[in-house]
Order: sequence, then C-alpha cells, then structure tokens
Amino acid sequence: MRKKRVKVNFGNLLIFIVVIGLFTYGGIYVYNNFISDDTGNSNDKNSILNNNNEDKKVNKKLKELGYSNNDIEKLENNLSSEDIDKINEKYDNLVELSSVKYFHIENIERYQNLSDNSSYDAEEIVMRVNTQIDRDFYTDVKIVDDPNDPFVLVNKYYEVPQDYEPSDLVSVGNGQKMRSEAAEYVNKLIKDINADGLYLQAQSGFRSIDLQTRLYNNYVARDGVEEADTYSARPGSSEHHTGLAIDLSHDGTLEESFENTKQFDWLQKNAHKYGLILRYPKDKVYMTGYMYEPWHYRYVGVEVATLIKNEGITFEEYCVKYKGLY
Ligand code: DAL
Ligand code: ZN
Repeated sequence: MRKKRVKVNFGNLLIFIVVIGLFTYGGIYVYNNFISDDTGNSNDKNSILNNNNEDKKVNKKLKELGYSNNDIEKLENNLSSEDIDKINEKYDNLVELSSVKYFHIENIERYQNLSDNSSYDAEEIVMRVNTQIDRDFYTDVKIVDDPNDPFVLVNKYYEVPQDYEPSDLVSVGNGQKMRSEAAEYVNKLIKDINADGLYLQAQSGFRSIDLQTRLYNNYVARDGVEEADTYSARPGSSEHHTGLAIDLSHDGTLEESFENTKQFDWLQKNAHKYGLILRYPKDKVYMTGYMYEPWHYRYVGVEVATLIKNEGITFEEYCVKYKGLY
C-alpha cells in the first residue's frame, strides 16, 4: 500500500503561528488591563501607570512654572512629591536651597527672600530662616509646646507659658534653684572645681516671670529698651524660666572679664562633662540675640553638651540640625 504523503505548506504554517501569538498576547493584555483589577500584579501595573501620570502632571506644572528639565530632575531628587506639589512659583534658587538637609518647603518664600537680599550660601540661608533670625527678634513669638521638655528652646522667638514653673525645682549652690537633674550636675561641678582649688558660685538659677519682669523693667528704666534687650530677656523669654539655666560667678559679679579667669578656663575644658553648654557665645550674638555671656550655662545633658561643644554650634543650631526645628 502506498503511503499518503501529507504536504506541509510552510508559508501557511507561519501565518497560523503569528495569528495565534497575536490572539494570545491580545487576550492577556485585555485581561490584565480591563478585566482583572483585583490581582496584585495588575494593581501594581495600574499604580505604576498612575504614578507615571502623576509624574507627568507634576513635570508639566513645573515646566509651565519655568523650571528646566535639569531643574525638575534635581527637584525630584531633593524633594518628596508632596513638597513638589506645594511649589506654585518659579524660585530662582530653589534647586540649590532644596539640596540643604534642613530645607522645609513651608519656608520657601523666606529662603528666597533672604537669598535675594544677602550673599549667604544656601546652607546659611536655610539655617538662618529655620532659627527664625531672618525676622527681627521678638517677631511672631510662639509659646513652646512643652516647657518641661529637657531640650526646650527658649529665646527671642519662643517663650514659656505665663504661669509656667517647673515642678521639680531643688536647691543648687547656695540658695538658687534648678530642676533636679540639672541641679545635681551643677552641684557636682561646683564641688569638683572647688576641689581643684577654684571658687565658683551659682549666682542665678530659676527665675519666675515676676522676677524677670522686675529685672527687665529696671534695666529698661536705666538703659532703654534697645540696650536692655542686648543683655536681659523680656519676661517669658528668659532661659532662666526653664530651671535649666545657671549663671556662674567667681566673685559675685557677672562681667565679661569672667572669661579671663581660671574658673572660665576650667569651664571651657569641663562644662560639657556636666551637661552644660555656654549658651551665648561671643561669635553668635547675631543668632542668640544676646551679648557674650561667659557666665550663662544651659543644662542639656552630657551627650548633647558634648556634641554641641565638638561641633561649635549654638543650641539654636542644634535644634535645627538634630530636632528638625524650622
Ligand atoms: N541674661 C539672660 C539673657 C536672661 O536675661 O535670661
Ligand atoms: Zn543667665
């Protein structure tokens, strides 16, 4: 018997395979994009598509505002999409400003304003705005959220509530008061410096708002507001209200010449070991708002005091760099 030969037409076979392939691919595409919306995979795909759409919208908005493609790429690297969403203007230095670690989009107008009116670099601009010192002292003074916070910042922009008095005040030195942990360290410091043959006394610790009011008003009557403000805090804005500040004296006076004493040298070397920082340094008057006070120390604990000393920064700068103040 002769075998029947099956003839294969290779042209038809190829067309057949291509058609089947297209149907299969098309089916999967339709299923993924139009039918299945409750599987993980297709949701991922949808969200990628949505994100791409969002990105395109943001890009379009930034482009319309006048940012170049290069700017947009950098802004996307520096900022979250929520932050980018808040940009509604073309700011000349936004790319540079937004690269600073402590940049906050909420302050953008003030950063740009300071940038336009100064020659400070971006880092300095962000620091100055976040510490508020782009504004005049005592502008928009806020009441601190928690006056009991051991790291509370009290200065010419942040004051304690009018009725605040710490609940854990104890005696320090000879008749002054501080909060208990701070007092413990200051008492130890006084004991240790005395043991090194140097006399030091706790001159002024906790002050009530009433006492600060009397002091400040007397200084204003004597020297006028402008001068009094350089060395005395307005009631509510004194760090002495926190019970965490102490004025130290070798002879009962508080004078700049204290910096020439052996006691001051000792404090320069050792104060941080007792958790104390020199609060109003000579070179940061523009930031603290007070003349140099070699006698005024603030308790912040050993760890933070050591960091502040090593970095050579003020407590304001510490709050921006490490506590996210802005
Ligand atoms: N002398 C400091 C600044 C005060 O009055 O609190
Ligand atoms: Zn003081």
